[in-house]
Amino acid sequence: MADPAAHIPHQVRPPDPFAEARSKSGADVGTFHGEDLLMLLRWKDVRAAARDFEHFDSSVRGRVPIPPEDEIRPFRQLPIETNPPEHGRWKEIVLPYFRRPMDPAAKAEFECILASRVTKALKGSVMEMVRDFALPVQSASLAVLLDTDRDIAAEWQGWGLHAFRTDGKTDPAKAARFLEFIDRMLNRGLVEPDMGLFSALHDARFEERPLTRDEMRGICHLSLAGGRDTVINAIVGTLAHMAQTPEDLDRLRDEPSLIPVATEEIFRVLSPLPQIARVCPHGYEHGPLTVAPGDRAALCWAAANRDPEVFESPEELRIDRARNPHVAFGAGTHTCLGAPMARLLVRTLLSQLAERVERIEVLNSVARTNPFGTPYLFESFHARLVGRKTS
Ligand code: HEM
Repeated sequence: MADPAAHIPHQVRPPDPFAEARSKSGADVGTFHGEDLLMLLRWKDVRAAARDFEHFDSSVRGRVPIPPEDEIRPFRQLPIETNPPEHGRWKEIVLPYFRRPMDPAAKAEFECILASRVTKALKGSVMEMVRDFALPVQSASLAVLLDTDRDIAAEWQGWGLHAFRTDGKTDPAKAARFLEFIDRMLNRGLVEPDMGLFSALHDARFEERPLTRDEMRGICHLSLAGGRDTVINAIVGTLAHMAQTPEDLDRLRDEPSLIPVATEEIFRVLSPLPQIARVCPHGYEHGPLTVAPGDRAALCWAAANRDPEVFESPEELRIDRARNPHVAFGAGTHTCLGAPMARLLVRTLLSQLAERVERIEVLNSVARTNPFGTPYLFESFHARLVGRKTS
């Protein structure tokens, strides 16, 4: 039999670019979109910075994301662009939606979205997994998460892999279209009570007052954009790993209780959101490296997740890694609100593959690289799911 992963290029498992800097000083300087950023690389330092709001401030509009977004939106993304205790009050407003993966009816809907995509892939001869598998799963799941009109997913799908970036760069035309969409949904929510989050925001209260339109926009902006390319890369990365390592798929078939453990390991290794920024109001010093007051530093989740002080043989994807305190979803108060849905999707994908798919054959793939050494990153990934024979 031909090697099913023969068409996965080798660079999809790049070496750790931070190994030396992490062990020598724990920090490095990287240039991202013309901005020099001091990057914290050690697990311990990244976790500590995520909890230190005095020195690593989250509350400056547009300056948590990399590249910054202060020029494309005149409002803060909420709840992320806040510090405690304000943060907790915003989080309370959106939490019922982000908890929906724990609701049995919603959970069944998420599972059904994935199962029907697997069915579609099994029926066809070959599928482009980025745009025809992961993107529709992400869009349909988001409509369930926000409990809004399920038909909107088709419009989201048309946006492609990112709501307002093209090739990693902010795209002003896409950004404007995104804002127009958010306003259109909020207008529908005002008159249609069954638009989920878009309706609920009109009744929500922050410190007993109604939200301003900009605050509603800030919540929608993050809810719609936060988990797009991250979820897509996690789904495609899962498929690619199982194509390249069929023995892992066989093991999950024999030991389905490992699926939650394998899911965490996939998130650790992929770290689909590699880093995020904080403003340093008082400046910051890390050995000889410094951040001027008001400039930014990066918390590099991807580097922290490969810290050999914490993870034995961090380069290996071990689906049975028992102790796995990864920070793929961040740390502390801003820990990802979309994590329950992301986890549910990858777990469901793994169980669908284990139950229904004998092997994944890769026909053609175009890999992407990034400065974080992220493995299994693809521009396109054409593969065939070969079904299991049922007796
Ligand atoms: C594999 C998928 C995902 C990864 C790896 C990921 C990663 C992260 C990380 C690292 C943070 C922490 C940011 C910080 O400390 O500043 C975060 C926060 C957040 N993420 Fe995700 N995310 C994913 C999926 C999603 C999804 C699907 C959604 C929504 C639909 C989402 C919404 C959010 C929100 C709202 C926050 C802010 C939480 C807060 O400030 O309390 N994420 N995410």
